[in-house]
Amino acid sequence: MFITKAPVEKVIELKNHIFILKIFAPEIASIIKPGEFLNVKVCDSNFPLLRRPFSVCDVEGDFIFLMFNIFGEGTKILANKHKGDLIDLLGPLGKGFNIEGDYDTAILVAGGLGVAPFPYFIRKIGNSKKIHSFIGGKTDKDIITYRMKNITISTDDGSLGIKGNVVELLEQNIEKLKSERIKIFACGPNAMLRKLRELCIRHNLNCEASIECAMACGFGICQGCPIESVNYPDKYLLVCKNGPVFNIRDVVI
Ligand SMILES: Cc1cc2nc3c(=O)[nH]c(=O)nc-3n(C[C@H](O)[C@H](O)[C@H](O)COP(=O)(O)OP(=O)(O)OC[C@H]3O[C@@H](n4cnc5c(N)ncnc54)[C@H](O)[C@@H]3O)c2cc1C
Ligand code: FES
Repeated sequence: MFITKAPVEKVIELKNHIFILKIFAPEIASIIKPGEFLNVKVCDSNFPLLRRPFSVCDVEGDFIFLMFNIFGEGTKILANKHKGDLIDLLGPLGKGFNIEGDYDTAILVAGGLGVAPFPYFIRKIGNSKKIHSFIGGKTDKDIITYRMKNITISTDDGSLGIKGNVVELLEQNIEKLKSERIKIFACGPNAMLRKLRELCIRHNLNCEASIECAMACGFGICQGCPIESVNYPDKYLLVCKNGPVFNIRDVVI
């Protein structure tokens, strides 16, 4: 784990209020794994005081990429960074996706900004597995396809792709997908993950999900990110330390 002040290379606006931050951070780039995250101090002043967690979106050589939308003060400050500005990064943190293993096709399920960890996942998996991405959002404005592969889309209002939520979309395709050896990897709002968890239990599917919650320290000290466990001896786990990626059956979302 490093604490480093890393220079911004570029800020790219992908679409309305959704940004990619490209940062020169060789130590982190050389060791971070898909699904792991960084806790970012967005500026030197005391406001916002706490670091903000962001998944690593991609890595290219010595550069890391973060994807975010403008949500509150912290992300507003990040969106206004310029080339050469230094950003205080703490990481890599947490446990990421287990991309190795006994499956042939990775099914990626992402809701809105939930696509954030998957470009790096796709890069790392290379040609070793097939990939199918299911991406959902409320409207076409929420759909992000940045560096995603083999995409099927749903929107709640039907403005792009199939009308409905992304878990319904997955369920419509599940019998066909189950003819292959699949493993699901998911990231998105808790409401989506809750529905996905039910689907995985009903169809006996193997699924890892990256869980979001508000965090402070990011590495297991403050006890500020508990999640109820199902299959562990401890009743509560810490999202920052035991996750953020969990077997979806092992936690109460
Ligand atoms: C492991 C992990 C990875 C993440 N990866 C990404 C990512 O790649 N891209 C991205 O855009 N976001 C990501 N997030 C969420 C991101 O950390 C928050 O959106 C960010 O803290 C918002 O900061 P802000 O200062 O702009 O808003 P804030 O001012 O912090 O938040 C505005 C409001 O949202 C609430 N809030 C803040 N964070 C969360 C949260 N995580 N869940 C629910 N409510 C919250 C606050 O209580 C407040 O009411 C991740 C979160 C976690 C835990
Ligand atoms: S954020 Fe401090 S213990 Fe998880």
